[in-house]
Amino acid sequence: MEVLAETVGWWYGPVMGSTVVLGICGGIAAYKCADLVRLLVKEGHAVHVICTKEAEQFVTPLTLQTLSGNPVHRDLFDLTQEQQISHIALADRASCTLVAPATANILAKAAHGFCDDLLTTVICATTAPVLFAPSMNVHMWENKATQANVARLKELGHRIIPPVVGELACGYEGMGRLPEPAQLLETIRSLLKKS
Ligand SMILES: Cc1cc2nc3c(=O)[nH]c(=O)nc-3n(C[C@H](O)[C@H](O)[C@H](O)COP(=O)(O)O)c2cc1C
Repeated sequence: MEVLAETVGWWYGPVMGSTVVLGICGGIAAYKCADLVRLLVKEGHAVHVICTKEAEQFVTPLTLQTLSGNPVHRDLFDLTQEQQISHIALADRASCTLVAPATANILAKAAHGFCDDLLTTVICATTAPVLFAPSMNVHMWENKATQANVARLKELGHRIIPPVVGELACGYEGMGRLPEPAQLLETIRSLLKKS
């Protein structure tokens, strides 16, 4: 038992509080997620970050690992991580999964049941609530394919945290901004309270 605890101790994290899996995608708003991780940890949640390959262009695993206190999950086929905590265990342990910023790409993949990386596989494997917080250029957001994917995700029972209107990193003004970390935290808080 001691050996088991030693092996998986880092994974089980705090006994109290929930386990939030945070899937970070390759959008400019990924930087906001570092602050969200900090707020979630401060509130007593165990936070496990999954980064897509593209997310790492925007935010470093080292930052997220330091703030979460857990290794960042990056690769479906990482032999070391898969041995310590498989993608199925990650999906099972989640009290909820938040995908933020959710790119147009991840919305499309999740809406169609793709499982071609760690994040999409965990989304498919978890039975806990999944929330998507899309963030993108206003034209990408208004694109009919994106809107159809969002509608499909809702049909599948997922929750969407809509983007907010404002100044976008691409220079446009409109709907597409990721809500601030405090607002995302509040949404997770009320979801976890209900469940
Ligand atoms: C500078 C830059 C900023 C980007 N920002 C966004 C964004 O905010 N939202 C989005 O949907 N895609 C954005 N993209 C495009 C995504 O990175 C691209 O579609 C990628 O394939 C997404 O991969 P992922 O969904 O696996 O993380 C951006 C690309 C670049 C180069």
